[in-house]
Amino acid sequence: MGRLALEGVKKSFGGVDVIRGVDLAIRDGEFVVMVGPSGCGKSTLLRLIAGLEPVTAGRIEIDGRDVTALEPVDRRLAMVFQSYALYPHMTVRGNMAFGLETARVPKPEIDAKVAEAARILALEPLLDRLPKQLSGGQRQRVAIGRAIVRDPVAFLFDEPLSNLDAALRVQTRHEIAKLHRSLGRTAVYVTHDQVEAMTLADRIVVMDAGSVRQFDTPEALYHRPADLFVAQFIGSPKMNVLPARAADGGVSILGGPPVAVPLPSRGRAPTQLGVRPEHLEFAAPEAGALTGTVSDVEYLGADSIVFVAHAEGTEVTLRVPGRAPVRVGEAVGVAISPAAVHLFDGEGRALAGGER
Ligand SMILES: Nc1ncnc2c1ncn2[C@@H]1O[C@H](COP(=O)(O)OP(=O)(O)OP(=O)(O)O)[C@@H](O)[C@H]1O
Ligand SMILES: [Mg+2]
Repeated sequence: MGRLALEGVKKSFGGVDVIRGVDLAIRDGEFVVMVGPSGCGKSTLLRLIAGLEPVTAGRIEIDGRDVTALEPVDRRLAMVFQSYALYPHMTVRGNMAFGLETARVPKPEIDAKVAEAARILALEPLLDRLPKQLSGGQRQRVAIGRAIVRDPVAFLFDEPLSNLDAALRVQTRHEIAKLHRSLGRTAVYVTHDQVEAMTLADRIVVMDAGSVRQFDTPEALYHRPADLFVAQFIGSPKMNVLPARAADGGVSILGGPPVAVPLPSRGRAPTQLGVRPEHLEFAAPEAGALTGTVSDVEYLGADSIVFVAHAEGTEVTLRVPGRAPVRVGEAVGVAISPAAVHLFDGEGRALAGGER
């Protein structure tokens, strides 16, 4: 129960292609997070899965059954939105029961389901309150409760935490993770938040302009991004990307001394080198693969972000533990560990490298 499959799904609005042929196979019980830039089609794809919009082409299956032409109620999915859209004149209990009442579920069954959802979400003391008497986090829990009572085969979440403040986001994120562990239901979850994506997901879908760039585990996206887009989208601060070319004994960045990265023996030549800020270290100016001048230092407590400007006009970002041992204006070298290097060809496709 809860297997979702999308095959060649497309959606156009008035001739504009918003979803350009998406194939996805989501396993039963899997927590899948969708990320991508604003406007890339995440909400649209979720609405297509839910049946709130008809597809322009393609097929959607739930547990092997073609549901492409089915109404939302017949798909047995539950959607939780960013705006909780609770009925303001109904209590928490009333809000959770409403969908079941309209579906004419017998009263004792409704009571049992609401009680169970309230227990899971720790909403029992709040059942007789109105939405206006709740905090944002509590309202979002009611919205999730409304989804739980329907006993869906899968949950669809569209940025459910983005209206909450930072502390409440963290807390509610833990609650969603716990909920998923206890219910074991398939979830498709859209977010803009890197931490939510990395921590909640079994697998992450990275979307760009209506297409899936990569669908893989958080580890794979971080260590083995398929292309430059994914490489720079996952990770914060984002991966440094520098012009590079094959040189004797490895790859040279901006004409500097070669970094000893093993190159693919034949085929596409590397034109760009990627390395994450946390995989760079300071070195003596003459010893680094790169040299430059420190242009800014951001001290964050546990670590510091340092920006180094290279003479060629490029800038690299380093993340170093604690307080950085450098000052703005200082000339520094930057050492690159070959094991942490990603190489890309002229079309931005990954060639080799990263931690495998
Ligand atoms: N009903 C509609 N009619 C016309 N265009 C639409 C409609 N719904 C969405 N779009 C367009 O489709 C594209 C994708 O929108 P969508 O809401 O799916 O993006 P998103 O990835 O969820 O973005 P965000 O991260 O900002 O929420 C956008 O360019 C949007 O303007
Ligand atoms: Mg959206």
